[in-house]
Amino acid sequence: MKLLVTGGAGFIGGNFINYTLKTHPLDEIVCLDKLTYAGNLSTLARAFAAKNFRFVKGDIADAAAVGALFSSERFDAVVNFAAESHVDRSIGGAGVFIASNVDGVRVLLDACNRHGVGRFHQVSTDEVYGDLPVSCVGPGFGEESPLRPSNPYSASKAAADLLVMAYRRTYGTPVTVSRSSNNYGPFQHPEKFIPLVITRALAGERIPLYGDGQNVRDWLYVEDNCRAVDLIVREGREGCIYNIGGGYGISNIALARRIVGMLGRDESLIEPVPDRPGHDRRYSLDCSFISSGLGWKPLVPFGEGLERTVRWYRENGEWLKGFKN
Ligand SMILES: NC(=O)c1ccc[n+]([C@@H]2O[C@H](COP(=O)([O-])OP(=O)(O)OC[C@H]3O[C@@H](n4cnc5c(N)ncnc54)[C@H](O)[C@@H]3O)[C@@H](O)[C@H]2O)c1
Repeated sequence: MKLLVTGGAGFIGGNFINYTLKTHPLDEIVCLDKLTYAGNLSTLARAFAAKNFRFVKGDIADAAAVGALFSSERFDAVVNFAAESHVDRSIGGAGVFIASNVDGVRVLLDACNRHGVGRFHQVSTDEVYGDLPVSCVGPGFGEESPLRPSNPYSASKAAADLLVMAYRRTYGTPVTVSRSSNNYGPFQHPEKFIPLVITRALAGERIPLYGDGQNVRDWLYVEDNCRAVDLIVREGREGCIYNIGGGYGISNIALARRIVGMLGRDESLIEPVPDRPGHDRRYSLDCSFISSGLGWKPLVPFGEGLERTVRWYRENGEWLKGFKN
C-alpha cells in the first residue's frame, strides 16, 4: 500500500508512521507536513532511515502544492492527521484553525477525487460531541450523537467531519472518520496536559491547572489509537465513523497529582489558574462499533502507558530541542 500521511511530524501522525513502518514494512509512506510550531522532525528519526519513507514539507491547504504532489505520486490512501490541535490557541485566534482544519481538508478531498484515491481517512476527535456533566456515568457519546463543539478547535474539526461526509454523498469520495479520545504517549508537544505536567515536574517548575481541576478526560495510549486507525484504513467499512476511546477516565487534578507523585515531587507545584473559557467538563465515548466491527480494544492499561510515557520524557530531553520554539 502507498500512503500519504499528513501531519506526520506531529504527535499522533509521527507515532502512526513509526507504527506503520514496523507493522507493514512493505508499505510506502509519504509524509506531508507544514512543520508548524507543533512539528518536530526528530519524531521521524527512525522513519528517515527507511527506504520506503519520504518527507515533503508543505501545507495541506495549499492546493497547488497538494496538486503537484498527487500528480507525482499515486496514493492508495490518504490519512489526514494534519491540524492545528491546541484548544487554547484556537481561543486566541481561530483563523489558522479554519484554514488548516477545514480548508486543508477540502483541498485534500478535492485532490483525492481528482486522482481517484481509494480511501480518505479523516482523523477527528471526541471533542466534536461537546461535553457531559462531570457526574455523568454510562457509555457516553455514540457515532450518531449530535455534534455540539464547544470551542473554535472542536468546531473546526466538526466542520471537517461534515465536509468529509458531504463529499462522500455528493461526489462518492470513499472515506472513513475516526474520533478518538485524548491521546498520550511519546513525542507529544509539551503544551499538552500530560507532557506539560511531566516536563514541569521534572524541572521543578510550577504546573498550571485550570479551574477546579475536576474536568475528566478519557485517556488513550497513542499506540492503541495508531492500531485502530490502521485497522480502519485497511479493514474498516467505507463511509463509517468510528469512535476510539481508552475507557479510562480521570480528573485533571487527580492525574496531575499522580504524575507529580511518580516523579517524587511535591504537590505544591500544582497551581490553580483561571479556567479556560467554555472548558469541557467530561468526555466519554461509546466504542461498541469498533469493538464489534473490527475487534479493536485498547491494549495498554493506563497505569502502564503512563509509566512508559513518564520514562520516555525522562530519557528524551534532547527531543524537545527539535521544536522551533
Ligand atoms: N492529541 C490528541 O489527544 C488528539 C485527540 C483526538 C484527535 N486528535 C487529532 O489528531 C490529529 C493529530 O493530533 P496531534 O496531537 O498529533 O497534533 P500535533 O499538533 O502534535 O501535530 C499536528 C501536525 O500537523 C502539522 N500541520 C498543522 N497544520 C498543517 C497544515 N496546514 N499542513 C500540513 N501540516 C500541518 C504540524 O506541523 C504538526 O506536525 C489532529 O487532527 C487532532 O485534531 C488529537
